[in-house]
Amino acid sequence: MIKVENLFVKFYIENQVVEALKGVSFHLNQGEIVAIVGESGSGKSVSCNAIMNLLPSYAKVEGSIFIDDKNLAELSKEEIRKIRGNIVSMVFQEPSAVLNPLIPVGEQILETVLAHKDISYKEGKEIVIQAMESAKIPDPEKRFYQYPHELSGGLKQRVVIANAIVNKPKYILADEPTTALDVTTASGILALFQELKEKQNIGILFITHDLGVVAQIADRVIVMYKGEIMEESDVYQIFDNPKSQYTKNLLASRVHV
Ligand SMILES: Nc1ncnc2c1ncn2[C@@H]1O[C@H](COP(=O)(O)OP(=O)(O)OP(=O)(O)O)[C@@H](O)[C@H]1O
Ligand SMILES: [Mg+2]
Repeated sequence: MIKVENLFVKFYIENQVVEALKGVSFHLNQGEIVAIVGESGSGKSVSCNAIMNLLPSYAKVEGSIFIDDKNLAELSKEEIRKIRGNIVSMVFQEPSAVLNPLIPVGEQILETVLAHKDISYKEGKEIVIQAMESAKIPDPEKRFYQYPHELSGGLKQRVVIANAIVNKPKYILADEPTTALDVTTASGILALFQELKEKQNIGILFITHDLGVVAQIADRVIVMYKGEIMEESDVYQIFDNPKSQYTKNLLASRVHV
């Protein structure tokens, strides 16, 4: 389980302090999809980045983050490196921002394998092909050698997902992974996340602006506003019987937050 307890994040920039998170607590189990929704600037990405220890050095973090009962604050850099991309991986909005345009996509995924395992190119490549198959990339043997610009946006995002699952993680943190895609492509990616949850028992933290996406994919929902959690409920409760006024307003304003 990933457990976030009473997390505060402040950014100190020049004379200003931005309080991005003001005491946030939540958890993510394996085999479930938890959506975080909230308007821009509510602290969704900061929550995700804190779990991955990816906040800039000028961020002050208080509170605790546990990954399978290990307190992140007590781990060495090397131990955190082993967790990242191995136990917990991330998928972002823009695959092009993550993929290196100069390296064939399969080799990029292979780098992720070889960063954590001491095996040969051939063994590694087999693992990569399997991950590409799990990510439903057609003709993975051919795609392995292609460059990002040869793939569609949806296929690029599948490559990023193949890269995220190649080391068999327990958890994926997905920060608006379908926002940059058209509706049809996005729904294919949502179906893939569902399958990864069901078949590989991966726990997925899914950040989105889109309540339609929440309804389609989430088991539980966390509603954030200005660095605080307004409400946390199962997905039926959020739509049928929202507790907080903020959630009610969100539903009334429909789909896009
Ligand atoms: N690296 C940073 N340096 C300074 N302030 C930051 C940084 N990252 C985030 N913030 C601030 O922290 C707050 C929360 O930002 P965050 O990126 O988590 O919002 P978000 O909910 O992900 O929004 P969006 O939907 O636009 O992605 C915002 O006020 C933002 O300006
Ligand atoms: Mg964000």
